[in-house]
Amino acid sequence: MTELVLRRLLPQPGTVTAIEALEGLALAKMAAEQRPYLVLNMVATADGAAAVDHRTAPISNPADRQVFHELRTHVDAVMVGAGTVCTERYGRLVRDPQRRARRVARGLAPDPLAIVVSGRLTLTADLPLLADPHSRVIVVTASAAELAGCAADVSYLRPAPGEEINLPEMLIRLRTEHNVRSVLCEGGPQLNASLLPAGLVDELFLSIAPALAGSAGSLSIVDRAPLAEPIGLDLVWLLEAQGQLFARYALRR
Ligand SMILES: NC(=O)c1ccc[n+]([C@@H]2O[C@H](COP(=O)([O-])OP(=O)(O)OC[C@H]3O[C@@H](n4cnc5c(N)ncnc54)[C@H](OP(=O)(O)O)[C@@H]3O)[C@@H](O)[C@H]2O)c1
Repeated sequence: MTELVLRRLLPQPGTVTAIEALEGLALAKMAAEQRPYLVLNMVATADGAAAVDHRTAPISNPADRQVFHELRTHVDAVMVGAGTVCTERYGRLVRDPQRRARRVARGLAPDPLAIVVSGRLTLTADLPLLADPHSRVIVVTASAAELAGCAADVSYLRPAPGEEINLPEMLIRLRTEHNVRSVLCEGGPQLNASLLPAGLVDELFLSIAPALAGSAGSLSIVDRAPLAEPIGLDLVWLLEAQGQLFARYALRR
């Protein structure tokens, strides 16, 4: 695969590939004892649309896809909401053997754990991720039901019977019961709306497409969020390729 070159605009101007930009992230080292270090990776248009026709593909580009997939090589687990995993038809998270080799070289399992949040367990076993025998999946759900006929190794993380999912508690359990130190959350907007106000997001990787979507893209990266006040962000770096901007922000506490 040809590694594309991105311009680094901040902090030190230069050129980097996605691999070089992300090398040394060491997210697991930043985990607290009680919960994983959690980074969010999202894409939006310049006017803030998180999807066009319910998909992210129209606002992505080849460099965006390389950053997206390279981020998956740095974490114990990739977390995603049921809406996204179904709409975007998630399959095996790291398909490229070279990316799996980079994970192993960093002391990680070849394939990241997939964590799917689905309150009502609306998933079906024909989802490519669940049909993949290489994938390990933890479904965070309040449902007592189980998915039948999955080829993936599927287990469940549930609140007490009759209770709703409490994401802070679930992240503590992922850390303490499953040794998950770093999580890459890939959305979607509804899951983000629970994670952000609860203070569970440490960093935001935001890819900004050089496009306007207008009312076609009324979904923002944080949907229906009861944010009492804006959450401040500190810019860590800014990269650019083919007009797409790649910002890395640390969330202010
Ligand atoms: N721009 C981007 O970077 C980006 C990233 C991801 C997705 N998207 C787009 O976003 C759209 C999907 O949006 P979405 O908001 O529906 O996605 P989502 O957050 O992935 O999925 C929502 C579903 O996840 C479960 N869920 C999320 N938070 C929960 C909580 N706190 N407790 C219990 N269950 C929870 C629920 O599943 P149940 O219904 O099973 O209970 C809920 O219906 C798609 O069009 C996709 O393309 C964009």
